[in-house]
Amino acid sequence: MSSVSVNSELVFYINGKKIVEKNADPEEMLLAYLRRKVGLTGTKYGCGGGGCGACTVMVSRYDPIQETVLHWSVIACLQPICSLHGAAVVTVEGIGSTKTKLHPVQERIAKAHGSQCGFCTPGMVMSMYTLLRNNPQPTMEDIRETLGGNLCRCTGYRPIIDGFKTFCNTPISCQNGDGNGKCCMENSNSHNNESIISGELFSMDNVLPLDPTQDLIFPPELLIMGKKKAERLSFHGEKVRWISPADLKDLIKLKSEYPNAPLLIGNTTIGPKVNLKGTVHPLVIYGGSIPELRTIKWRNNGVTVGAGCSLSVLKDVLLQGIEELGPEKSRVYQALVQTLQSLASKQIRNMATIGGNILSANPKYDLSSILAAAECTLYIVSNDGAREICLSEEFFTDFGKTALRPDEILLAIEIPHSRPWEFVSAFRQAQRREFAFSIVNSGMKVAFRHDSNVVENLDIFYGGVGPTLVKARLTCKELMGSKWDEKLLV
Ligand SMILES: Cc1cc2nc3c(=O)[nH]c(=O)nc-3n(C[C@H](O)[C@H](O)[C@H](O)COP(=O)(O)OP(=O)(O)OC[C@H]3O[C@@H](n4cnc5c(N)ncnc54)[C@H](O)[C@@H]3O)c2cc1C
Ligand code: FES
Ligand code: FES
Repeated sequence: MSSVSVNSELVFYINGKKIVEKNADPEEMLLAYLRRKVGLTGTKYGCGGGGCGACTVMVSRYDPIQETVLHWSVIACLQPICSLHGAAVVTVEGIGSTKTKLHPVQERIAKAHGSQCGFCTPGMVMSMYTLLRNNPQPTMEDIRETLGGNLCRCTGYRPIIDGFKTFCNTPISCQNGDGNGKCCMENSNSHNNESIISGELFSMDNVLPLDPTQDLIFPPELLIMGKKKAERLSFHGEKVRWISPADLKDLIKLKSEYPNAPLLIGNTTIGPKVNLKGTVHPLVIYGGSIPELRTIKWRNNGVTVGAGCSLSVLKDVLLQGIEELGPEKSRVYQALVQTLQSLASKQIRNMATIGGNILSANPKYDLSSILAAAECTLYIVSNDGAREICLSEEFFTDFGKTALRPDEILLAIEIPHSRPWEFVSAFRQAQRREFAFSIVNSGMKVAFRHDSNVVENLDIFYGGVGPTLVKARLTCKELMGSKWDEKLLV
């Protein structure tokens, strides 16, 4: 008999209201739950696969590692309700309405004519709302990044951006000024007809100010829950059983008992297959609440990132590394950040994990080619103990398959600092610059003999050119010892 205590009651909040689900169905996604069960139909269904952003909502959780509440924009069509134990969900209905009072985000998108058919609007609003919860004075770049995963077929985006850029830390009297507080007519761009026309389309006089004190607070009950020792959660549906292990020890035990059950965390690889292709996993083990899978450790020669860290967390960690280590030591991190900026969307990056990206073993996914070029180490645990593998093309045995045994868990990935005379680059070619899978991606690292242009070591990896990651072995071997000059590059 299991010695861990098992709970089968799912507790979370929606728009400040407590939800207790005694029969949570592991197959149920938050979007369907909101629309069908709770009757909140503001959140829209567009694609069911994370590709449109119409279903964006905000999920807040207490993070015991950082000891604070974090707010994330997520895709409700890929968020299983069983993963929401202890979380607070806010939907477009929860922030304001025409019946009560609009939230400034809602008011400004409406005033700027940023809503036409309105289908994308709740998702746009919730992406922007989440940004403002985290950063009340965003830059234009923050807004652009935030809305990258919200598609609109009507407006051409311009009026949406015009409405939302009034939240930037600039005076809002003119929508087209360059941020120096002057009207565009006073600036050198006054000849720009587009600016003048757009400026006349709406007025932001008397708009509601952004007032964070009016936002829904994180429920105190969930704060207390988040600080308590976790227990195992188990939910049974008609076809699927879900187990959230109590801790890492419990997870290792479960994985050895049920090696074929997927270890679901972000659900961005598993979810689209379940939603759109009808794949059924009779048992799912959830890894999202295991702190060891989300731990970050800086070491002298690298950073160890928990496999369950989201790509957004990974990006923040790497940006911190770039700032602290300087350009030479952080070349791997710079290459990774460059790729992360165009990988998927903000909402997907908030959910998708680095471990899931590697272990999905989909050669179109971008990270493995860079991580392999950087000679990252994978830390693996199972009931048999721990082992380490250097990430290389041999780790990927077939499309969707790796050398990880089914009972094993990827605990963390060590990403090394760059050494002197080592240069790293990442490339991806996709149909769009952002929010499109790469057709081909590549990670390259060259190490030069000290103080020279002689190639001492070269690693070039390609994803998307076959069923698995490919190393350009012959090229690398051929170029070793050559001088890095025009002749080598053509
Ligand atoms: C709309 C959309 C756009 C995307 N665009 C891109 C893109 O441009 N570039 C790109 O690279 N990727 C892209 N992705 C893919 C995304 O990055 C991956 O799906 C994600 O990283 C997988 O992580 P996850 O936590 O969601 O995995 P899950 O779906 O939860 O799990 C995936 C698999 O990994 C296994 N697994 C996960 N973690 C562990 C672990 N620690 N130990 C053992 N097994 C584990 C699971 O068993 C499962 O088989 C996109 C995805 C979507 C939905
Ligand atoms: S419905 Fe398109 S991302 Fe969820
Ligand atoms: S307003 Fe119609 S999809 Fe954006």
